[in-house]
Amino acid sequence: MKQFTGKYAVITGGGSGISRETGLVLAERGAKGLVLADLNFDNAKAAADEIATITGCRCLPFALDVSKPADIEALIAFAVERFGTVHILVNGAGICPYISMEDVTAEVWDKTLNINLRGSYLCAREVFPYMKAQQYGKIINVASVAARIGGIASGINYVASKGGVVSTTYALAKLGMPHHINVNGVAPGVIATPLTASNDYAPGTIVGQPRDVANVIAFLASDDSKHIQGCTLDVNGGLYMN
Ligand SMILES: NC(=O)c1ccc[n+]([C@@H]2O[C@H](COP(=O)([O-])OP(=O)(O)OC[C@H]3O[C@@H](n4cnc5c(N)ncnc54)[C@H](O)[C@@H]3O)[C@@H](O)[C@H]2O)c1
Repeated sequence: MKQFTGKYAVITGGGSGISRETGLVLAERGAKGLVLADLNFDNAKAAADEIATITGCRCLPFALDVSKPADIEALIAFAVERFGTVHILVNGAGICPYISMEDVTAEVWDKTLNINLRGSYLCAREVFPYMKAQQYGKIINVASVAARIGGIASGINYVASKGGVVSTTYALAKLGMPHHINVNGVAPGVIATPLTASNDYAPGTIVGQPRDVANVIAFLASDDSKHIQGCTLDVNGGLYMN
């Protein structure tokens, strides 16, 4: 199934977890080039090298802090310089602090929203002109079940950031619609990644694997979903049903 033949993708958070697995899925299905961008460059490079070895896809690591607008400009400029354009953007970079309300200070709130929400928006903003020019694009935002149910163990700052991601997805979809740019999202439940490793979930909590989410992101990045706009798909094994 080579759905992504000739396609170039940028994936933030690509050094780990859900985003790394998404890179592998896109490459397995024929993507021509990937930029895996992450705060942790060593992880991004390891992921890029491994995916390139497995699939033959051209995979490039990039050091990025999504809370820094200049880094985002540099990321998309890098991708366009190497690949000529970007067809697919996956906004996967994120943090999930497990903290009590008392510890959610103004600084903590701002940091979380700048990474999880503003970072996703600015990445979309930066690729929009290229997608508009080619009248084609797929943007997938990674939200969370926390946005649906007020969080499981995460702080209120995380819940707010992911709620913002869901509503920003609607707004970006409206802006993308006239230009054949699909903007959608996924809302994962508890997924076994380094992000969740430090938290003790209640016995019996349904836990998914990165591939469970990566497959759905790939669907939203493919033309099989071209009539879906502004939708955040729940990928949680039944933890929350809408
Ligand atoms: N794992 C879960 O249970 C779960 C559930 C719901 C939503 N999510 C969301 O999925 C996304 C991926 O999470 P994951 O579980 O794969 O976690 P992960 O920790 O494995 O991956 C997140 C990646 O984002 C990177 N990152 C963090 N801050 C960054 C920054 N400022 N700039 C650039 N990169 C940064 C990290 O270095 C890491 O590689 C996140 O947005 C997370 O909120 C995860």
